Amino acid sequence: MLSLLRLLDSVVVACLLLAGSSSTDALKIISVSNGQVQGIWGKLEICPDGSAAVGYQTQNDQLDVPLHDKTALNSIRLFCNDTQGTNITSTLGDTGIWELRLNCPAGEALSSFRLRVEPYDSANSDNTAVNSIQFNCTDGSLLNYNGNTGGMWGEFSADQCETGICGLETLVQPLGGTLTDNTAVNDVVFICC
Ligand SMILES: *[C@@H]1O[C@H](CO)[C@@H](O)[C@H](O)[C@H]1NC(C)=O
Ligand SMILES: *[C@@H]1O[C@H](CO)[C@@H](O)[C@H](O)[C@H]1NC(C)=O
Ligand SMILES: *[C@@H]1O[C@H](CO)[C@@H](O)[C@H](O)[C@H]1NC(C)=O
Repeated sequence: MLSLLRLLDSVVVACLLLAGSSSTDALKIISVSNGQVQGIWGKLEICPDGSAAVGYQTQNDQLDVPLHDKTALNSIRLFCNDTQGTNITSTLGDTGIWELRLNCPAGEALSSFRLRVEPYDSANSDNTAVNSIQFNCTDGSLLNYNGNTGGMWGEFSADQCETGICGLETLVQPLGGTLTDNTAVNDVVFICC
């Protein structure tokens, strides 16, 4: 995790340098410790300059479909408060239903998060990794859409984004054919504004 975060840091710094940013503020990445490890880290996506992520929605597998390889949480979409209402996703999963969009109270932005995770178990032929996500807004209010219910809620990210979350990068296991136990989203990190 540490080397990944360091890599992520240098990618972000490189992007800012390319964009000619003169900001010298240290970039803050918030993460949790109960993510899983399968898959490939996606592209870092960031809200347009001057905007922050003020709402989100997730794509979740339907529950209890017989003979179905459950994958639980498949995708996370953040909504920015620029005038276009840009949305950012990093890598998307392949299945499931887009759930309701939830928003922070007016003037607030997403600030911290926690993940509901089913830890990998080799004796289990249908692992699901991340099942659900909750966010706190900058005023401390909680955004919760039920999502899938496997596993346990972990701790909230130790750090929070005081001025809001502005970007995300997801770790998603790609579909691997009918003999693969797919798990979709395994972990996610967010970048502060
Ligand atoms: C997200 O943005 C894409 C364009 O990048 C747009 O086509 C899509 O409709 C948007 N989705 C939502 C739910 O706003
Ligand atoms: C977006 O939200 C952030 C955090 O609430 C706020 O500081 C900023 O002014 C907002 N930007 C726009 C374009 O509304
Ligand atoms: C996030 O929300 C939870 C549930 O309401 C609360 O217990 C916690 O203190 C909040 N954390 C922060 C940093 O606001």
